[in-house]
This record gives sequence, C-alpha cells and structure tokens, in this order.
Amino acid sequence: MGRSGTNQRRDPAPFNRAQVVALSRLCSGKFARAFGRVCWLEARRDHCRKWFQRIDPGTVLGGDVESIPLTADLQYDIARLKTEIKKTQPDVTIVCSPNNPTGCVISDRDLASFLKETPGIVVVDEAYHEFAEHSVVPLLQDHENLVVLRTFSKAMALAALRVGYLLTAPELAREIGKALLPYNLNAFSQTAAEVAVEMYQSELRPLVLKIISERERLFGELSLITGLSPIASRGNFMVVKSGIGPKQVFNELLRRDILVRDVSAYPMLNEYFRASVGTPDENDKLLRALHEICA
Ligand SMILES: Cc1ncc(COP(=O)(O)O)c(C=O)c1O
Repeated sequence: MGRSGTNQRRDPAPFNRAQVVALSRLCSGKFARAFGRVCWLEARRDHCRKWFQRIDPGTVLGGDVESIPLTADLQYDIARLKTEIKKTQPDVTIVCSPNNPTGCVISDRDLASFLKETPGIVVVDEAYHEFAEHSVVPLLQDHENLVVLRTFSKAMALAALRVGYLLTAPELAREIGKALLPYNLNAFSQTAAEVAVEMYQSELRPLVLKIISERERLFGELSLITGLSPIASRGNFMVVKSGIGPKQVFNELLRRDILVRDVSAYPMLNEYFRASVGTPDENDKLLRALHEICA
C-alpha cells in the first residue's frame, strides 16, 4: 500500500459497480416512489460528479440531492444534518466514514441518533474502515434502515478484483438481491476475495497496523513543518493545509518523483493537498521534500 501504488493511477470510482447497482436499487423500484431527496453528507458528491456525471445516483435517478458541507474544521456537521433531515425528509442519506479525502469519521452515537430520526435509508460507505479500526456494523442489529458498503480495494489491496459488498437487514438485503444480475461477481474474484478474508488477520492486518502507525508519525512530522497543517485522519491518507499554493506543492513534489493529490478544487479544500500514507521510506522522502519546499 505504498504511495506509488495508491496514487499513480487515475482516481478510481468512488463506488464500484456492485455498489452502484445496489444503491440504484435502493433508490429505485419500490423505493423510487420516494426517491427525490437524497442527503449527501459532506461535499464528496462533487468528487463523484467530476468522475461520473453519469452515475451520481441523484443524476441517474433524477432525484434532488442536498449536499451537507463539513464544518470549518472539516468534521461532519451533525447538527446541520439533523436540521436538514427534519426539513427535507430524505429517502437516502449517504455518509462516507472515514471520509475521503478528509479522513473524518462519524461517531456511533451521532449515527444512531439520526438513524432514529430519519424515515429513510442511511448508507455508510466504509471503504476505509480498517484504517479507522472502527465499524458501524454493530449498529445493524438495531437499525433496519442502515446499509454499510465495503470494498476489497483499500486495506485488502485488491482493487483490480472489483469486489465490494453491502451489509444490511435481511429484509432489505432480500429486496436488493432481487435486483442483482445473475453472476454479478465472477468466480475468480469471489475466490480471491474469500482467500483475502481468510488471510486478513495473519497477512494484511499487520500491514494495516503499520500504515496506522506511519499515519500518526507522518501527522506529527508534518505538523512540525512551517506553513503546513495536517488534519488528523482515520484513513490511509490525510489532507494538509498549505501556506504555499497546493498546485505549487504538487508540482514541486512531482519534480521529485512524489505524487500527492491536488484536492484544491474540492469544496472547502482550496488550500489543501492530500498525501497518502506510504512505507516508512516513502514517508521520509515526502517529509524531506516538503521541508525543502517550505523552507
Ligand atoms: C470512499 C470510497 N468508497 C469507495 C471507493 C471505491 O472503491 P472500489 O475500488 O471498490 O470501486 C473509493 C475509492 O476511491 C472511495 O474513496
């Protein structure tokens, strides 16, 4: 999961095919009656729009989408979400936790409180949950309107397999299952995914733990560089506020063969770039380069 592996390709889809099919089904068929109001917690929808005008669920299904911005310190704005839920009664609310690219998470308490208040379905995208060492899955027990989306593309390092899955109450899962195409997951990918699950504790979790500890080191070291303010993250990346324009930082790093993501076009992130957590050597190289650039 080094920086090069994560960053040196085009930005992948924020939703994989299985997730989009599932989501579309959640938002159509028997739920379509109501589809028309979606709450998208934070501004990630703009990111989706950039890559997939065609599969933004709101665009595809003709719904009205309400994006709820993060707070000024880039955390989820729960108070505003609750007000919005009361006002618009959304059919689907989508939360990405940990959030890409800011790395903030929603607490179980906050999630449980609005799961109770919303009449609609709440979808939590847990693509990066392993790096947060936290999951909202235990809340499924008491909340039939909760849907959790997962992927094998991040901690499992198997993006090319194109495997994702959804966890929800049996009733809702049955409804979604009715809409899935036969053989929607090929047998090779399924077998490889099963092996990855079996090997997770012994082979992959130690790597995840290493990334978590490198993330904390990187955060501490970045905080010491003049002009840079990293935002604490629970993902395998973090956004960094930069006194020097993020585009200039991006270009200076690129000249040194280091690729970060320029996220300055995202809402609220015009002063930020995103760095992935790499191997210790990669992180050292990034830190040395940023010391030079910011000197
Ligand atoms: C929050 C989030 N969810 C889902 C995905 C997509 O994962 P997949 O490779 O399964 O399409 C990404 C990829 O960037 C992501 O950031």
